[in-house]
Amino acid sequence: MTFQKINTSLVLIICFAVQYIASTQNNTNIHFVIEETSFDRLCQSKKILTINGRFPGPTIYARAGETLTLDVENKGKDNVTMFCCRGVGRHVKFDQVEWLVEAGSTVRKNITISDDDEGTLWWHAMNIWQRATVHGAFIVHSKPGKPDDHADIPIILGEWWKKDVKEAFLDYIDSGSDLKSDAFTVDGQPGDFYPCSKNGTFRIVVDTGKKYLLRIVNTAIHNNLHVGIARHNLTVIAMDGSPIAKQFTTDYVELTRQHSIDCIFEANQQPNYYYMVAVTNISEAYDTNKITTAIIEYQGSYIPSLPPLLPLLPNFSPNYDKSSSRDYLYVIMTFVILGLFFCTTFVVWYRQTNRAHRSATVTPM
Ligand SMILES: *[C@@H]1O[C@H](CO)[C@@H](O)[C@H](O)[C@H]1NC(C)=O
Ligand SMILES: *[C@@H]1O[C@H](CO)[C@@H](O)[C@H](O)[C@H]1NC(C)=O
Ligand SMILES: *[C@@H]1O[C@H](CO)[C@@H](O)[C@H](O)[C@H]1NC(C)=O
Ligand SMILES: *[C@@H]1O[C@H](CO)[C@@H](O)[C@H](O)[C@H]1NC(C)=O
Ligand SMILES: *[C@@H]1O[C@H](CO)[C@@H](O)[C@H](O)[C@H]1NC(C)=O
Ligand SMILES: *[C@@H]1O[C@H](CO)[C@@H](O)[C@H](O)[C@H]1NC(C)=O
Repeated sequence: MTFQKINTSLVLIICFAVQYIASTQNNTNIHFVIEETSFDRLCQSKKILTINGRFPGPTIYARAGETLTLDVENKGKDNVTMFCCRGVGRHVKFDQVEWLVEAGSTVRKNITISDDDEGTLWWHAMNIWQRATVHGAFIVHSKPGKPDDHADIPIILGEWWKKDVKEAFLDYIDSGSDLKSDAFTVDGQPGDFYPCSKNGTFRIVVDTGKKYLLRIVNTAIHNNLHVGIARHNLTVIAMDGSPIAKQFTTDYVELTRQHSIDCIFEANQQPNYYYMVAVTNISEAYDTNKITTAIIEYQGSYIPSLPPLLPLLPNFSPNYDKSSSRDYLYVIMTFVILGLFFCTTFVVWYRQTNRAHRSATVTPM
């Protein structure tokens, strides 16, 4: 894939870009419909099991101390056991709730959130092949009065199989065949580097100077995933729905499978487009045909770099962050020139003083 191709395609799709708007709602009564829905990914179309026709499923927003009523209606062919909510938070009273929703039935569940809960959890189907597409974030805000000062951006990392997931899973059970997916996804999308995927690339629109709370969940079946954003640091504040004792700032985070991380992202760079990447193995030189991306898009009028800048994770090809390596080059050149200047000055000075000294010593009396 050449830059030229990416350039032209990106220009084409900008007008059709799906804008992401972070929103929070109070939905104390939630209705989930389990149904098969057709999706186009990786140049193919297939049906997957979804909640309300969405992949990943809808984000549930809740507040500490609140009780939610969740109705799950199963319009699928198979029974589905639902699970809410996964997280290992200290105070998460509502952890480990699972219930069967038989095909054709509707089951109501009350989910009570304790007063001191807050953070990012997720809900999903129990069965592995169902869980691959039936999952979503469960975000708990603190009680009213305590300010939530950052806009939420749920980021669900998942996987896409070209094959029917149930078949892939049954083959895996029967013959030990590979359960490896064809792509990792951010919000259901493999991103710019995969075929037939550019139109859908997940885009996060940000305002310069604002801070955002990225609520990242890794729903992948087997893989840990590393997430980084070009030229931006992430400040990790919570893991698995529980604040961490010591916040830290890093250029990328690693999410163990089925875990979540809350991190603050500050839009503090030059307005531009920046890639967010999700990769399994950062020690590997990456294959540009297989790198999952989303785009952080600053609001405003400017001409973005095309393609957007890629982060410099360990072993990522620095060629991609061209302007950054150019900056480094300028710094190095400046040092080299300054160094040369000082060396020359020093040599001239040394020679002169030395000559003076020598002439002083050789001149007797
Ligand atoms: C959500 O709605 C319920 C009932 O209408 C209300 O008691 C609660 O305070 C609301 N929570 C928020 C965060 O607005
Ligand atoms: C669904 O679950 C019920 C109760 O456990 C069981 O009787 C039924 O056979 C199951 N149906 C399918 C399609 O697995
Ligand atoms: C859910 O809560 C409501 C109101 O508190 C109660 O009437 C209902 O019985 C509960 N339902 C279940 C399934 O526990
Ligand atoms: C992307 O969008 C353009 C414009 O709507 C459309 O012509 C093109 O077929 C789309 N490509 C894919 C792979 O869906
Ligand atoms: C990221 O963090 C490192 C180390 O704390 C710091 O040197 C660097 O300037 C930060 N970068 C940005 C873009 O904030
Ligand atoms: C990551 O890639 C390196 C280099 O190819 C390899 O040695 C290592 O085993 C890989 N790690 C995993 C977890 O796949």
